[in-house]
Amino acid sequence: MYKFAGRRERELCIYFLPRGSECSQVERWSPGSWRDKPIEQTPVYEDAALLADVERQLAGFPPLVFAGEARNLQRSLAEVAAGKAFLLQGGDCAESFSEHSADNIRDFFRVFLQMAVVLTFAAASPVVKVGRIAGQFAKPRSAPFEKQGDVELPSYRGDIINDIEFSAKARAPDPRRQIMAYRQSAATLNLLRAFAAGGFASLENAHRWMLGFVKNSPLFERYSKLADHITETVGFMRAIGLDPEHHPELRQTDFYTSHEALLLGYEQALTRIDSLEGGFYATSGHMLWIGDRTRQPDGAHLEFIRGVRNPVGLKCGPSLKPEALLRLIDVINPDNEPGRLTLICRFGSENVGDALPRLLRAAAREGRNVVWCCDPMHGNTISAGGRKTRPFDRVMSEIRTFFEVHKAEGAYAGGIHLEMTGQNVTECTGGARDISEHQLHVRYDTACDPRLNAEQAIEVAFLVAELLKAERLARGLRDRDAAE
Ligand code: PEP
Ligand code: CO
Repeated sequence: MYKFAGRRERELCIYFLPRGSECSQVERWSPGSWRDKPIEQTPVYEDAALLADVERQLAGFPPLVFAGEARNLQRSLAEVAAGKAFLLQGGDCAESFSEHSADNIRDFFRVFLQMAVVLTFAAASPVVKVGRIAGQFAKPRSAPFEKQGDVELPSYRGDIINDIEFSAKARAPDPRRQIMAYRQSAATLNLLRAFAAGGFASLENAHRWMLGFVKNSPLFERYSKLADHITETVGFMRAIGLDPEHHPELRQTDFYTSHEALLLGYEQALTRIDSLEGGFYATSGHMLWIGDRTRQPDGAHLEFIRGVRNPVGLKCGPSLKPEALLRLIDVINPDNEPGRLTLICRFGSENVGDALPRLLRAAAREGRNVVWCCDPMHGNTISAGGRKTRPFDRVMSEIRTFFEVHKAEGAYAGGIHLEMTGQNVTECTGGARDISEHQLHVRYDTACDPRLNAEQAIEVAFLVAELLKAERLARGLRDRDAAE
């Protein structure tokens, strides 16, 4: 008789075995089984026939990513879980149709590479690179309606659902936008793949990535010094015969995509069986996460995510209790596979010190193998002069506390998750240029939450590199003491 490797496979087996066989008792999963569960944050489409037609079209479109790539990412995340690598995840809060351009993608990728190189070089840690890009379109909202004056309209839910303009026509959810989001994701991914493999990401270009820097930037000099070191190192390696032409790891990089799995009809249409190894994969992005507002254990979003084999993220906010977390871990990762689950903590700088230790202890007590990642953005949003912003000091403070708590608990702080852009926007206050609340209007471009600008993002990378370095030194000393 066929032996099932784990619980998840047992639950899925209904598809491969005849009815009435041993495991048909277990709750069945299919790419569409979420439709029978209560769902939050879902748009109401007027034209059901049009929606069905769009979903049918999407189901026939080529996958955006491949199962083998998702498996590679999971393997890299397993290295993070083991404390041997660091996860850098970041990008827009919401991608938009109007800002889709080659320059924007290049500028984002360039800053991302700079951050990665700061982390790799300053902290001697391999970096797993995951963008919030090529699919990050759907947004959960705190209120279903928005009121301006006397007019009340459905809230903007991201370009894949409706338009940000405040008019009844623009705010009506339109299924055809899903096709536009799919095509934009494909084009974005195409350029990213070319950048990652086609020479742009070569370490020999570390200086050229600075082109986006304004010369008088306070971070220019700091990054420039690091780039000098890299150039020297690559020169040295070349001299001893390790040249980038023959060592692809110096010339190219692995870059993965991720987004919130919110619009489940779209996700379902792009979920496919892996033709090589079997099993269902969401092919809309390499890694999908479940947001803080849609993580009900018996809800539709959990139901969808438990059955796909991609690496998965789960946002953990202040309302999540340790017992509830353990239950969610059981649903998402019943076989305790390393790299399958990343817990993206977004407590806010004031709550993280209280909330995080409880979750870390519960997971450690029950032996759960997860990646712990810090999102210092979503718990630190405030309103200033009618705009949402995030004070840079609070972002930095949450990251510092995240590392301190991990150290105190003997756990590994495995990653950061940022909302950031390659542009010099003025959306978060503070940072090296000390953006004030009065300057927010100068370049406030975000379609949703405020993002770190290029300089602020690199500043975060330098801070994290210092924290990681200190952590590695402490670990090295501990290992040495234990060996003596
Ligand atoms: C987000 O990541 O943009 C988001 C909405 O996060 P959260 O679910 O943590 O609020
Ligand atoms: Co956001």
